[in-house]
Amino acid sequence: MKILIIGSGGREHAIGKKLLEDDKNIILYFYPGNGGTSLIGKNIEKNYTILELALFAKKNNISITIVGSEIFLSKKIVDVFHFYNLCIIGPDFISSKLEVNRIFAKNFMKKYNIPNPRYKVFCSYKEAINFIEKKKNIGSLAIKPNGIALGKGVIITNNKSEAKNAIKTIMVDKKFGDSGNKILIEEFINGIEISIMSIFNKKNIIPFLSSKDYKKSGENDNGLNTGGMGTVTPNPYMTDSIYKYFKKNILEATLTGLLSEKLTFVGFLYFGLIVPFNSQDKVYLLEYNTRMGDPETQSLMPLMKTSFLKLLTTSLLNKNFNILWDNKFSCCVILSSKGYPEEYKTGKIITGLNLIKDPWYVSGASIKNKQWVTTSGRVLNIVGLDKDIKNARKIAYEKINKIHFDNIYFRNDIGSF
Ligand code: GLY
Repeated sequence: MKILIIGSGGREHAIGKKLLEDDKNIILYFYPGNGGTSLIGKNIEKNYTILELALFAKKNNISITIVGSEIFLSKKIVDVFHFYNLCIIGPDFISSKLEVNRIFAKNFMKKYNIPNPRYKVFCSYKEAINFIEKKKNIGSLAIKPNGIALGKGVIITNNKSEAKNAIKTIMVDKKFGDSGNKILIEEFINGIEISIMSIFNKKNIIPFLSSKDYKKSGENDNGLNTGGMGTVTPNPYMTDSIYKYFKKNILEATLTGLLSEKLTFVGFLYFGLIVPFNSQDKVYLLEYNTRMGDPETQSLMPLMKTSFLKLLTTSLLNKNFNILWDNKFSCCVILSSKGYPEEYKTGKIITGLNLIKDPWYVSGASIKNKQWVTTSGRVLNIVGLDKDIKNARKIAYEKINKIHFDNIYFRNDIGSF
């Protein structure tokens, strides 16, 4: 069987490694992939349009294509592949709006009574600034571009001047490009974030284990928002009562909405949740993603005992699949280039990867003249597994001690809660 995985990060590497564990005869293709994926499959090195990718899949008899990155969803990859009768895991363009158009997602949440933070939409810079200026007690706000921003599209502000700066950054300076033509100003909820991914098989949503994503660049959650500096799966804060609330008010309500609106697809659905510090029996939905999380996937995949391939093929038949999980914690630490998510240098030689055991994944590194070199802000994902979260964390950091590159940067507090 030939499988094509779309994307270039640690998530795609982790999906590929798991598929090969499930069936070593699978032939993997990646577009565009990275140095890690080149070791387990074939990276498509040409620059393809979505149409050319579909023709490639057709010509090469690809059985299943898996979309990792939302960028391709926003370019209608699923619609084009369906047009050519190709099998692809992911939402069509309309359903992907749950992720790539925040206003669409908020309207959906409102219609189906899914608890989410209060918000206002602004299409004009002037109106957004007026709104802030007129407010007496402003408190903390989450200011977001309407469109996609690779997991980094939220600015938290604590006073009027910060809020006005954030609006300018998004709407005038266009930090997130055209994604910032419209913005949402949202009430900021201080609490514990929980990510929970799932697969939707057009009839049911089957949830995976929960994860904790460490989004900030600095320790103790200081610094800038990144695409993720580490994850722990399962998230120890996901208690039975929080899960029960999530299942009834968010997961089941989402399913009702998806079926009623005919937003049905075979693909992943990610729930970004927050449990407020001041009311721990309530859960709010911050966002949907219509793909697997990165780096959540890198800590989730090593715990999946049943076949991921079987999960996909069963879901493609619109049937449920019982996933079994290892009863362990998985702690994934991202090794990045100093300066990420802002400016950083690449091309640094990486040593020590031959000294560590699986699981580890590549986000941004390639092999040049038989040496590993950094190619991006996020470079490697190093994972420790153990029944005890403290040991899982210790194992991950022991592995990290063996790896070196100039300007290496990672958080030392992943998994310490
Ligand atoms: N880790 C957050 C995301 O994948 O969007």
